[in-house]
Amino acid sequence: MDINIAVLAGDGIGPEVIDQAIKVVDAVAGKFDHHINYTHAITGAHAIDEVGDPYPAETHDICMKSDAVLFGAIGHPKFDNDPSAKVRPEQGLLRMRKQLGLYANIRPTLVFPSLLHKSPLRKELIEHADFVCIRELTGGIYFGDKGRNETRDKAWDVCEYTKPEVKRIVKLAYEYAQKRRKKLTVIDKANVLETSRLWREVAQELEKVYTDVETEYLFVDAAAMRIIQWPEGFDVVVTENMFGDIISDEASVISGSMGLMPSASIGEHTSVFEPIHGSYPQAAGKNIANPLGTVLSAAMMFEYAFGLKEEAKLIEDVVNTSLVEGIVTEDIAESGKAYSTSEVGDWLAAQIK
Ligand code: IPM
Ligand code: MG
Repeated sequence: MDINIAVLAGDGIGPEVIDQAIKVVDAVAGKFDHHINYTHAITGAHAIDEVGDPYPAETHDICMKSDAVLFGAIGHPKFDNDPSAKVRPEQGLLRMRKQLGLYANIRPTLVFPSLLHKSPLRKELIEHADFVCIRELTGGIYFGDKGRNETRDKAWDVCEYTKPEVKRIVKLAYEYAQKRRKKLTVIDKANVLETSRLWREVAQELEKVYTDVETEYLFVDAAAMRIIQWPEGFDVVVTENMFGDIISDEASVISGSMGLMPSASIGEHTSVFEPIHGSYPQAAGKNIANPLGTVLSAAMMFEYAFGLKEEAKLIEDVVNTSLVEGIVTEDIAESGKAYSTSEVGDWLAAQIK
């Protein structure tokens, strides 16, 4: 298969972890005889430094023309500590999601048996956890009107959803649940928010269509508690943008390290595959960041963007072996040896070959 991948490495540890994913993708391509063409494009803080725009039109063009986007991370402390900055790296990520129409963000919670003891949660609570968070990605408070009054002592962020926006993501979640254990948890705050009441109305309509799926409704505060108290009670979770952002970070605690968690963003145009972690500026350039979240995002790319399940499975298997054999970075290494980011990437690629 001929495959065109846009590579948006971004800021911080983005370039380092992306390099390892590319080694792995190349190794898989060699084995299965795929021909991969990479086009690198700028985004995030360094795109602001270079051209004043965190998601330049040229980058968007490259994404639109590609079969998939591999994305690293964006963000820089100089913007985090400056609330008055007019242009921010995160705006690049949000514009990319919006312009590519990526309304669904799929974040699986993976539990690796060899890492159970790394989780701050008790082994017996998490060993059977296996759920997927489906987060709405192009609506809600992230994209509503925001502003300040004239005296700048009042601010607002409006949360809005339309029925079609809710319907397409809840449908996608039901279809996803049909392929799994057939349980869908709809997370909202319908006891307080009007947008949540719209979500629940739409979900209740669809519940009558997807009768083979058991539907459960949970308020987000209760869901936050249940996710770490009894994670195996969840199969597929669907929720709006902001709740999904928070819940998916919380869920990453179950697997022991945020550095391990992949995601796929899908919708109208080219799909984007990125780890859920951020740019981790403290580790940038030190060759210590965990590349597995990005490598597993590349596995999701093979499966979701190209329908190549065997290739995806191979990557997941070598990642599992690396965890079992302790070929891992310092965030999850045992007291013995920690490997560098590039050593882990080299090992995974060699293992595949
Ligand atoms: C994520 C991140 C982003 C988000 C930030 C970097 C804008 O936290 O992908 O979860 O809030 O969506
Ligand atoms: Mg987040």
